[in-house]
Amino acid sequence: MSFRKSILGLATSLAIVASAAVDDGCDALATSYPDITFFPGTERYKYENEYSWTSTTYLGPSCIFAPQSAEDVQFALHTFQKHEVKFAIRCGGAMPIDNAANIGSEGIMMAMTNMSSMAISDDSKTVTIGAGVTWPALYAYLDQFGVTANGIRSGNGGVVGAILGGGPFGFMAYEFGMSNAAKSLECVLADGRLVTASADDHPDLFWALVGGGNNYCVVTKAVLNTVPISSALIGTVSWGTGVSDQYIKSVEQFALHGAEYPKASFEGQTRWVPSRSSEISFDGYLWYSGEGDVPHGLENFTAPVLPITRGNLTRTTMGNWTNEFNYAPPLGTRAIFHWLTSAASAEAARIAFDTYYESIASLADVEGFSTAFSMLPITPIVTAAPAGNAMALGSDDSPAIWYVESPLWSNPEDDERVLGVHAEANAKIRERLSAAGLGPLPFMYLSDIQKTQIPETFAAYGARNLRKLKAVRNKYDPDRVFTELVPGGAKVAYA
Ligand SMILES: Cc1cc2nc3c(=O)[nH]c(=O)nc-3n(C[C@H](O)[C@H](O)[C@H](O)COP(=O)(O)OP(=O)(O)OC[C@H]3O[C@@H](n4cnc5c(N)ncnc54)[C@H](O)[C@@H]3O)c2cc1C
Ligand SMILES: *[C@@H]1O[C@H](CO)[C@@H](O)[C@H](O)[C@H]1NC(C)=O
Ligand SMILES: *[C@@H]1O[C@H](CO)[C@@H](O)[C@H](O)[C@H]1NC(C)=O
Ligand SMILES: *[C@@H]1O[C@H](CO)[C@@H](O)[C@H](O)[C@H]1NC(C)=O
Ligand SMILES: *[C@@H]1O[C@H](CO)[C@@H](O)[C@H](O)[C@H]1NC(C)=O
Repeated sequence: MSFRKSILGLATSLAIVASAAVDDGCDALATSYPDITFFPGTERYKYENEYSWTSTTYLGPSCIFAPQSAEDVQFALHTFQKHEVKFAIRCGGAMPIDNAANIGSEGIMMAMTNMSSMAISDDSKTVTIGAGVTWPALYAYLDQFGVTANGIRSGNGGVVGAILGGGPFGFMAYEFGMSNAAKSLECVLADGRLVTASADDHPDLFWALVGGGNNYCVVTKAVLNTVPISSALIGTVSWGTGVSDQYIKSVEQFALHGAEYPKASFEGQTRWVPSRSSEISFDGYLWYSGEGDVPHGLENFTAPVLPITRGNLTRTTMGNWTNEFNYAPPLGTRAIFHWLTSAASAEAARIAFDTYYESIASLADVEGFSTAFSMLPITPIVTAAPAGNAMALGSDDSPAIWYVESPLWSNPEDDERVLGVHAEANAKIRERLSAAGLGPLPFMYLSDIQKTQIPETFAAYGARNLRKLKAVRNKYDPDRVFTELVPGGAKVAYA
């Protein structure tokens, strides 16, 4: 009894220490930077706390700091360490893991929103951006110069978050490879040093940052290579319902043969919105950046093989196209992603697709429930990526099919049920794929994982790369600031 009491007493005093630390941290920030430190009850605090794509991330930090320069970030990092306050770092807020980029009242969120500068080089070959820039803003900016960036397909996600997550992966990855948009990254280390990481400068840090997440430093700036594409045929289309056989066959064929047409690409999104229809609709995005009006390489996604029933390919720019999207989730605002891979086989895609939708059928009555099961045919060009990358992405990983589940729902009370059903579905999918000898493949894409997949993600990069990721972490953050004080996100030290 007295033992239990003393434990409780200890827990209470620890909680008091933690809350004193966070209050001291917020006070220190507010004293030096009153204009960029925001507290609950203010409009700006609410804007930043609820900035992210899913409401699962609205965790309510004690205060929010919105730096405008690398010096501001240096001050914040010093303050967090001095007061031993936990913190989170948020860029575009697109990663649907609750604490990846936000934190509860025990900590402080650093929101990169105002690090929003963009400057193209004189020869238009590179663009330098602040760490708060999102893809739609970047694409619209680059449109003016007749170039674009090898970035994500859609979504109001952050550029820097996508690079740290091992991407970006979008339409142009089919021509130029994924994960290689960044030429260099500038960041503040835990000891306050501002360093540049590139192939020439701190190359070990640069290698670790692409795919290594928030374990190393706070990125303040990125230099990206542009690509000379001024417009493309792009389509948000649907093939209607009841076409699973041909759709799946076309995905398989594109994974096997799409490399012959690097200017063509496709992302399949099968969708189920039970409040609207019991049927699954076969939707997707098409891209063709070659000349003329004929999208060579997309014959298996167009008539007569697979006739489009809604939408079409229109010539537009990445800026115009991406800014036409409504980024708010269509129904519920609670969201997760789940990552899955298989061999480039129609049989594998059939197993994954059928098992997913059979297993989650019982969620039809969950308020605001809808889901997308994306299918991405992966050609060898996509995974050629930068040779020797941290993720070990390479020729063993293609051809393949990658899948992303993205269920949405409305209420926190349904979290357990939705997550439980998805856990069972995914165990079954993996069991059936592996029984058929068709997957899953080793690659894990940090940008698109579910929180429960964190333990397997860095391990999937391979023992050698993981050792190097840990060594680089130890070299640049010997005091483990980004491991201990930044609790959210996948941690290299714990993998
Ligand atoms: C609707 C939607 C569509 C998407 N489409 C694509 C797609 O087509 N292709 C693709 O590749 N991905 C896509 N994604 C995934 C997305 O690119 C990744 O989840 C990415 O990590 C999000 O980056 P962010 O900056 O928006 O995220 P955030 O949630 O802000 O951050 C993600 C992680 O990076 C860390 N981080 C962010 N900024 C910094 C910094 N400056 N310094 C240190 N650490 C930092 C955070 O702490 C966090 O752990 C999509 C996501 C959504 C929601
Ligand atoms: C910072 O970003 C917020 C949100 O977009 C905006 O309202 C504010 O004006 C910006 N502040 C500065 C100094 O640019
Ligand atoms: C389309 O499918 C056929 C087989 O039905 C295949 O021969 C062809 O290579 C495919 N084309 C592409 C670009 O995937
Ligand atoms: C394509 O779609 C656009 C907008 O939805 C429409 O204006 C245009 O007429 C369509 N073109 C064709 C050839 O169907
Ligand atoms: C993109 O939008 C701008 C502004 O609305 C317009 O002037 C331009 O013609 C569009 N470009 C294309 C290729 O659609």
